This record gives sequence, structure tokens and C-alpha cells, in this order.
Amino acid sequence: MKDILHELQERREAARQGGGAKRVEAQHAKGKLTARERVELLLDEGSFEEFDTFVAHRCTDFGMQQNRPYGDGVVTGWGTVNGRQVYVFSQDFTVLGGSVSATHAAKICKIMDMAVQNGAPVIGINDSGGARIQEGVDSLAGYGEVFARNIKASGVVPQISVIMGPCAGGAVYSPAMTDFIFMVKDSSYMFVTGPDVVKTVTNEIVTAEELGGATTHTRKSSVADAAFENDVEALSEVRRLVDFLPLSNREVPPVRPFFDDPDRIETSLDTLIPENPNQPYDMKELILKLADERDFYEIQEEFAKNIITGFIRLEGRTVGVVANQPMVLAGVLDIDSSRKAARFVRFCDAFEIPLLTLVDVPGFLPGTTQEYGGVIKHGAKLLFAYGEATVPKVTVITRKAYGGAYDVMSSKHLGGDVNYAWPTAQVAVMGAKGATEILYRSELGDPEKIAARTAEYEDRFANPFVAAERGFIDEVIAPQTTRKRLCRAFAALRGKRQQMPWKKHDNIPL
Ligand code: HXC
Repeated sequence: MKDILHELQERREAARQGGGAKRVEAQHAKGKLTARERVELLLDEGSFEEFDTFVAHRCTDFGMQQNRPYGDGVVTGWGTVNGRQVYVFSQDFTVLGGSVSATHAAKICKIMDMAVQNGAPVIGINDSGGARIQEGVDSLAGYGEVFARNIKASGVVPQISVIMGPCAGGAVYSPAMTDFIFMVKDSSYMFVTGPDVVKTVTNEIVTAEELGGATTHTRKSSVADAAFENDVEALSEVRRLVDFLPLSNREVPPVRPFFDDPDRIETSLDTLIPENPNQPYDMKELILKLADERDFYEIQEEFAKNIITGFIRLEGRTVGVVANQPMVLAGVLDIDSSRKAARFVRFCDAFEIPLLTLVDVPGFLPGTTQEYGGVIKHGAKLLFAYGEATVPKVTVITRKAYGGAYDVMSSKHLGGDVNYAWPTAQVAVMGAKGATEILYRSELGDPEKIAARTAEYEDRFANPFVAAERGFIDEVIAPQTTRKRLCRAFAALRGKRQQMPWKKHDNIPL
């Protein structure tokens, strides 16, 4: 017995060595942690239960039978994040470059199947040279199996991808189908074709970092949701995100202890809106003042900054926030902000996370760039996402709610459950200046007349009361009481159950 135990110990030790000291050193030299170090940091101390430690590939081509390391380049298993279960895979670049063989893929599939069956998130740490070249089509088949599971798991358990090294070619499509992608600056990249192929095909000269680094994907392409300075920061932020999420679509989001008075009055909010309607203010200030302990987890902070998306808690319960940001492009809706917010709304709805919408929107961005880029279809994504969402929806209009954008931003007409407005709200087809210029075009040469017309329009429409008279706004509230009102509204909506008519699935304008 002793010998057998000793052998087990030795084999485990061999598996833990990964690709050996030299390759581990090389990994560290690049500023990257090893697969196991990452798992240790991601999970609660001592909680990791490894699976398939002794799996080895079965390839015999290109002399591969001489090189059969334990684990086959990926560490898999489960553990806890602040006491809540998650499944994890972490590709080991020190073992055959973390390349994906049939058995490597089968290990990932095994824990994904368990995650879906048992109802817990999947966190995938990607650091891989891609398809294992020696295995050919077996490797591609392995990727296909992972892709199929990403699709099956979508909307069932949260899937989070952390890119911590190379992720290229078709391999990018597994993270692409997950709910959130995090990257590490300067040590991770994602692209369908690398700089060499790009140069051959298009003559463009570009570095890997420029083509698919963390900055590119968080600012330009929006493929990634956040970029971090190093592995440690990225993993600790994943832990923070997991704390906001339910483990699966069979559960409600967690309720965390909170120390912030739900009835807290914020008198400073009474003066948040500037006198001049064209002057911006920072919507993030409002979000922070509403949230429990000012804790806000922003998603896609660096992309389409004219809309803000992220998670807060009210009375310890997760709420998804979508808010126009008057500081950027006056908070206008455009292609990028519509896509960003629509995807966020759909995530929240899939996982029963209630939605808070803060509205200050002057309309949709005009111009050929927007029209040629399909703003009609992209804007419709957000409209559609709000309309199909059956989670509790609470809306606060702080200032402008103009035109189609008024309808889009979780209006009563799209099933908003509680729609509040501040007294500074202006619910109208458009701003006073634009309206008078259209209605009284013949008087444009007479500034006095136009000023009078504008004042008349403002008196009539630049307020929330016309909408409130019709019941499109449920109540006009004092800004300082907003947190209290929201806590009560979401509490009242906890029992909400809403069914849409049966359908196989909808046809959101993709
Ligand atoms: C087998 C691989 C490998 C791969 C790397 N290695 N990629 N082995 N299959 N795909 C091995 C290397 O041979 C080396 O082994 C070790 O991993 C580390 O690689 P290095 O090249 O020394 O590391 P580095 O200089 O950091 O370069 C990393 C790299 C490079 C840029 C990722 O390795 C590379 O270009 N690899 C090939 C990438 C690729 O073309 N993959 C296929 C893409 S197509 P030793 O023993 O020397 O340490 C694809 C399709 C997926 O993935 C399709 C899904 C549908």
C-alpha cells in the first residue's frame, strides 16, 4: 500500500511540474503565471479539486508517443470563489504550448458538461498555441466539441473567458461565444489570422499587440470586456465579477451582506443636473451614489463610452445598470452603444438579473457613417433586447428622453415595470431648438419670434408631466430619494413572473 501511495504521489508531482522548470521560468519571464498558479489565485485557498490529472494524449504521429505529459496541456477541475462553486480550465503553455489535442479538448468538455448538469459557471483561462499541429483533424474535432458545449451552456451557466497568452485562429471562437472576455495587457492577444498572414494578404504591417492585444479588443473591436495590467489583477477581478452573478439560470443572483442604508438620502443629487440642458454631467456619479457601498462593476468601460453598463447591488442584490452618459457624445445612442447595451441586457435577462435603466438620451446619432453601418438594425437590437426581457425593469429619466430613443430605453411601452422621472426630465420628440426650427421654419429670420416659440415649446414639453399625465411615467420623484425609491421598487418586483408567447426562439436583428 505504501508503495502505491508513493507512486501516486510521484505521478501527481510529475503532473504538477507541467513542462518543467525551464519552461516555467520562460513563462514567468514573460510576466505570465503558470496554469496552476492561476487556478490557485482564482479559487478560494485549498478549494481546487482537480480532474483528469493523469490524462495523456494518444497521438503516435511525429514521434509523439515519446512525449506524453500528464494533463496534456490543460488543468481542469472545480473549486469555489468566495464559497460558491465554479468549474475551471486553465491551459498550460509550458506543456506542448498549451496546444489543443483531442484529449485536451475532451478534458475541457468534461468539466463543461458537469457545469451545465450541476449548475455552476465555467471559467476558462486561455493560453495556447492553438490546434495541436501533430494531431491534425482530431484537434479540430476537439475544438468543435468545445464550441458545441459553449453554445449549449450559453444562457444556462455564466461562461467567463480569461485570455492570458496566445489565442489565435479558430480557437478564438470558443471565448467569443462566452459571456465575458477578460484580457491581460501586453501578454495576451486574440486574432483570427496573425500579423504574418495579414501582411501577405492585405499588405498591412501590424504587430500582434496592435492587431489583437487587450487595448485593441477593449477599445476598438469590443471583443473583450476589460483589460488588466497583469494576471493577478485579472484573476481577482474575475472573482469580483463572480460575486455578482447567479451560478446558473436555475438560481437567482446571490444576496450579499450590505451595510448601506436602503433609505439613504443623497441631497447632492438634487443639483446633479446642470441648469443648462446642453451641459454634461457624469452619470457615473449617479450610479455610484445609488449603489450599495458605491460598488460598481463596469462592463466594457473602454468601449462606446456614451453608454454605461455594469453591475451594482441594491439591498445586497445584483442589479444590471444601463445608463446613457451625457459626458460622451451627449449620451446619444449609436451603433456601438446599442450593441454594447443590447448584449448586456440579454445577459441580465438570461440570468434573472433585474435591470435599472438611467436615461438621458438626446436621440440616435445622425450621419452617413451610422446609416451605412446599419444603425437601424443595431439600434433595433437594444429595442428588441429590452422588449423581450422579462426580468424586473425599473427606469429613471434624469433629463432628456427624446424621440425613438425614449421608447428604446426601457420605456413603459416596452414593459418597464416602474418608470420614474426626475422633475428635470424632458420627455419629447426632440429638443426645443430642433422642434421650433422645423415647426416654424418660415419664422427663422426673426430671432425674437423664434425665441418666443422655443420658450413656448419648452413650457409645454420640456418636463416630465405630459408623460406623467398619461401614465407613461409612474411617478415624478425627488432626485435625493432615488436610492430609496429604487430599493422599494425592486423589492416590490421580486415576485415578478412574466411569460412570453411560446416560440422556438426569437429572431433578434443580429
Ligand atoms: C503543437 C505547439 C503549438 C501547436 C506551440 N507549440 N504551438 N505544439 N501545436 N499549435 C509548442 C512549440 O513547438 C514549443 O515546443 C512550445 O509549444 C512553445 O512554443 P514556442 O514557439 O517556443 O513559444 P513562443 O515563441 O512563445 O510562440 C508561441 C506561438 C508559437 C506564437 C503560439 O508557438 C506558434 O506560432 N505556434 C503555432 C500557432 C499555430 O499556428 N497554431 C495553429 C493555429 S490554427 P517546445 O517543445 O519547443 O517547448 C488553430 C485552429 C483552431 O489553432 C481551429 C479551431 C476550429
